[in-house]
Amino acid sequence: MQGDNDSLAAFWMPFTANRAWKANPRQLVSASGMHYQSADGRRILDGTAGLWCCNAGHCRPEIADAIAKAAATLDFAPTFQLGHPAPFELAQRLAALMPVGLDRIFFTNSGSESVDTALKIALAVQRAKGQGTRTRLIGRERGYHGVGFGGISVGGIVSNRRTWPGLSGTDHLRHTHDPARNAFTRGFPQHGAELADDLQRLVDLHGAETIAAVIVEPMAGSTGVLVPPVGYLQRLREICDRHGILLIFDEVITAFGRVGGATAAGQWGVTPDIITMAKGLTNAAVPMGAVAVKRELHDAVIESAPGGIELFHGYTYSGHPLACAAGLATLDLYARDGLFDRANDLSPYWEDAAHSLKGRRHVIDIRTIGLVAGIELTPRPGAPTARAMELFHAAFDNGLLLRATGDIIALSPPLIVEKGQIDEMFGMIGTLLDRID
Ligand SMILES: Cc1ncc(COP(=O)(O)O)c(C=O)c1O
Repeated sequence: MQGDNDSLAAFWMPFTANRAWKANPRQLVSASGMHYQSADGRRILDGTAGLWCCNAGHCRPEIADAIAKAAATLDFAPTFQLGHPAPFELAQRLAALMPVGLDRIFFTNSGSESVDTALKIALAVQRAKGQGTRTRLIGRERGYHGVGFGGISVGGIVSNRRTWPGLSGTDHLRHTHDPARNAFTRGFPQHGAELADDLQRLVDLHGAETIAAVIVEPMAGSTGVLVPPVGYLQRLREICDRHGILLIFDEVITAFGRVGGATAAGQWGVTPDIITMAKGLTNAAVPMGAVAVKRELHDAVIESAPGGIELFHGYTYSGHPLACAAGLATLDLYARDGLFDRANDLSPYWEDAAHSLKGRRHVIDIRTIGLVAGIELTPRPGAPTARAMELFHAAFDNGLLLRATGDIIALSPPLIVEKGQIDEMFGMIGTLLDRID
């Protein structure tokens, strides 16, 4: 462990092997477009849009200027019992991008806060509709919904859960990862729609009248790019409808062009009741999240309240002026440059490039959708996750940022990526796979 005087000691890094990292630090000092610059002066091609969030590429002047202007004009204004114009404008713009009907927007500061907000809104809606016995929240194995107590309770990643007591009254659907039947699928896997029936199993077990909501990522990102099987999300929607259960899509990763449309819900034609967002909303230039809610659900909460504050929930920084400025400038860029369509148009090229790694050493599955790829490696015997981590380090040292999660490499570049850069990414990964044991 580093000594107290070490300049790296004070920052307790999130989701990081602090000891290993501080013994061999890799730092980024600037960014532009598709590239980071490392502390040792190298250009690093960004294969992950930061952390699935800089969808318009880095340090776009339009966003930087908007933030600077906001900081100099209105640095902060409360949105509790007071307002300022920016969040109203951003909410309207955002509502227009959502599937029809989800046009009421609550602002947060992160994906985790969006998830906890969505779960709280779901409970408030059920109560407002006279369904107060519905308090159970259902998530899914291998789901990632951030790190709040709500999020880890419905999440399905053991390391994120084992240290902390979760909320009581949660349960989990089985995950949809089925490489035995679906390995090397391009787009939606053929097998697994029936896994949505797990919700019916939980209804039979707990009683529908106890279940408030189900939350899933339309595509599970953090546990390694698990694309939903054909028909799975539709079936989940049907079962929710049959039993009065609210369906929440956690689109913190999938919104804002990642799968070729403003949302996965819109792109894939399944409309949930609530959508959570963050990351690409501001191109990550200022932290911000949002929750889009169906109008009638919002109205149920507002209209059933006796008077005064209808929802006792909010953050000091909900609708922060700098975040709103970044969000508005980001949405402008997405529209002006047609970045969602660009992602969609590039997707077949991306898919071919990713799947060209089929047959390479260690590769046991490749999954692609939109501008996302998951490359699953055989775990090293006795050392699970080590191989992907070694690849992550080797790629960084060779000028490519990718993401390692378990034994899976995840790629999700900014939507401005060029074909040559796609070739560069998968070419380098292929070369490094040959080098790594
Ligand atoms: C689907 C999903 N939900 C929630 C979160 C949490 O977001 P944040 O880290 O901004 O709290 C993430 C982060 O990756 C995510 O992928």
